[in-house]
Amino acid sequence: MEKIVKQLIANDIEAALKNASWIRKMFEAGAELKRERGAENVFDFSLGNPDVPPPSKTRDVLHALADDAVRPCGLGYMPNAGLQDFREALALRLSTEQQCALSGKHLVITVGAAGAIVAFFRAILERGDEVIVPAPYFVEYGFYCGHFGGILKPVPMQGPEFALNPEALLSAVTEKTRVILLNSPNNPTGAIYTEDALGRLTEAVNTLNKTRSRPIFILSDEPYRLFAFEGATVPPILPLSPYAIVLGSFSKSLSLAGERIGYIAVNPALEGVETLLAAVTMTNRTLGYVNAPILGQRLAMALLDEQIDLNIYEERRQAMAKVLTDAGLTFALPRGAFYFFPAAPGGDDVAFCAKLMAHGIIAVPGRGFGMPGYLRLCCAVERDIIERSAAAFKDACQ
Ligand SMILES: Cc1ncc(COP(=O)(O)O)c(C=O)c1O
Repeated sequence: MEKIVKQLIANDIEAALKNASWIRKMFEAGAELKRERGAENVFDFSLGNPDVPPPSKTRDVLHALADDAVRPCGLGYMPNAGLQDFREALALRLSTEQQCALSGKHLVITVGAAGAIVAFFRAILERGDEVIVPAPYFVEYGFYCGHFGGILKPVPMQGPEFALNPEALLSAVTEKTRVILLNSPNNPTGAIYTEDALGRLTEAVNTLNKTRSRPIFILSDEPYRLFAFEGATVPPILPLSPYAIVLGSFSKSLSLAGERIGYIAVNPALEGVETLLAAVTMTNRTLGYVNAPILGQRLAMALLDEQIDLNIYEERRQAMAKVLTDAGLTFALPRGAFYFFPAAPGGDDVAFCAKLMAHGIIAVPGRGFGMPGYLRLCCAVERDIIERSAAAFKDACQ
């Protein structure tokens, strides 16, 4: 009998597996290179794992949490939207950050920013709905909306500074558009969108929504909000539109990426705000998250007034800017986040990343972020590594 080839996995996941993300590919190539040459001879700028230690208070808080854990339901289930006291405390902080009065009931605590985006997409997308995103962009967005039949529509950012281009985004709007997804400070460019550009975009969306039965949401992904340098500020989005939704996490600001604590806040000015919140609370549950981890929530709550030492990232930013300038690379100085996105000399990002790798430098081709011709360098590495990479960058650029 002829052997039947068994299909174990879904077609789209099979295609995605074949098309492994460039970040992953380069990270694995880097690990191989470290085995060959020794870790100290490889400059790995591929993966964005926040490496600055969490605030020192973390240790004491964890001890106290351990002491409190051994009691009935000490580590038990909780309301699906998260711990009430944490939501209230976080709402106070977000009210200041967003210049918009929020209370705990406007928030859902999620499994990282990633979990917030997924729960939101599950709550609002129909198959075939379009999600417009400025390119380059965080590559996981495509998977997050693709799980529910959403289609990512990248629209290039503007000019060498990768500015938000409201007019280009608006001209991509169709009947199918459901979300415009923003990320400021931006991964991978480090751009911070201006109040003026956000104002133009939100004003036009507010007008469009007057005649749409299914409104367009403006989803603002802000896990890097704290990472704004040289006095730059990140304008709040909530006051600009009732259809604006903000989300973030403690992965970067407290270096708690493995604890998976994030949040999503819905604008109280949205008509039907309770329905949307009920939907996100439900999808947060039924996607299998149930609720965000309890220890992570308690930890983040106790550390709400703390942050990692931002000076470390600022010093790295300056060190990397010098290394790249000395090597003759062209780039926009990032105003936020912790990435650089220089142009690939010669225009071929894959070829240039291969050349860098031959010199011991691991970078990710820009096409991994929807923008060929550039490369992403992540500064979640010690300053010493950045400085020691200078000679290798110069050699590769000659
Ligand atoms: C732009 C952007 N959004 C979301 C995430 C997910 O972050 P979290 O760890 O909070 O899920 C990341 C992680 O790197 C990111 O860069």
